[in-house]
Amino acid sequence: MKEIVISNFKMNMTDGQIVEYFSNISIKADKTLKKLVFCVPFTSLHFAEKYQNDLISFGAQNMHEEEFGSYTGEISANMIDEFGVKYVLLGHSERRKNFNETNEKINKKIKTALKHGMTAILCVGETLQQRKRNQTYEVLRLQIGSGLDEIYENELSNIIIAYEPIWAVGTGKVAENKDIEEASLLIKKIISEHYSVNAGNNLKIVYGGSVNSKNCKQIFKIKTISGVLIGGASLDSKEFEKIIC
Ligand code: 13P
Repeated sequence: MKEIVISNFKMNMTDGQIVEYFSNISIKADKTLKKLVFCVPFTSLHFAEKYQNDLISFGAQNMHEEEFGSYTGEISANMIDEFGVKYVLLGHSERRKNFNETNEKINKKIKTALKHGMTAILCVGETLQQRKRNQTYEVLRLQIGSGLDEIYENELSNIIIAYEPIWAVGTGKVAENKDIEEASLLIKKIISEHYSVNAGNNLKIVYGGSVNSKNCKQIFKIKTISGVLIGGASLDSKEFEKIIC
């Protein structure tokens, strides 16, 4: 489905370039789109004050789990919160790999985000090797089970799970619909077992990994996902327009 479209600019675009981006983009979303989230660099989260509305929200790409303290170079939930930012990406595979983020650390970050009334977008997904070894279910179960440890069922409305198979992120190799559908059903099964069937049915899942204006229509046909999380293709305002409109 195409209810939620989330962009992840990663470490791209200066504040000046983002001014230009928003002056170029024309957001004429169709009726199916309910939420459009721009996960821009921290330095541009202030745009939330200007552009947020019923459809558009802003999201951070990460944050620290502690409220404040001696964590040089880090960003706290309060700092993000001050801009009225309502979403935060947590556990992105690039952070797991490059910054050694563990499931335990991600779990703490999710708890902090929820405490601040934000929606946490928990990113999960397997490597190509894990997929070839049929370990996808185990990987997802561990990432979701530990990531959501001590999170209560009534808090799941503020959690989105982003299924981002690592082999599809930034590679140009988009997962096939049957693989996305299968993984999203596994995620719903994990949530159903952990909480309830209702929780599994109501869970919002988005797919991320090489989504662009050419393949998005095919992906939006998948009924078990609510939308997509887009990296590279969201950086070009005209390309992104084609995806959301
Ligand atoms: P790409 O769309 O560039 O593959 O990136 C996906 C991603 O990592 C979004 O978080």
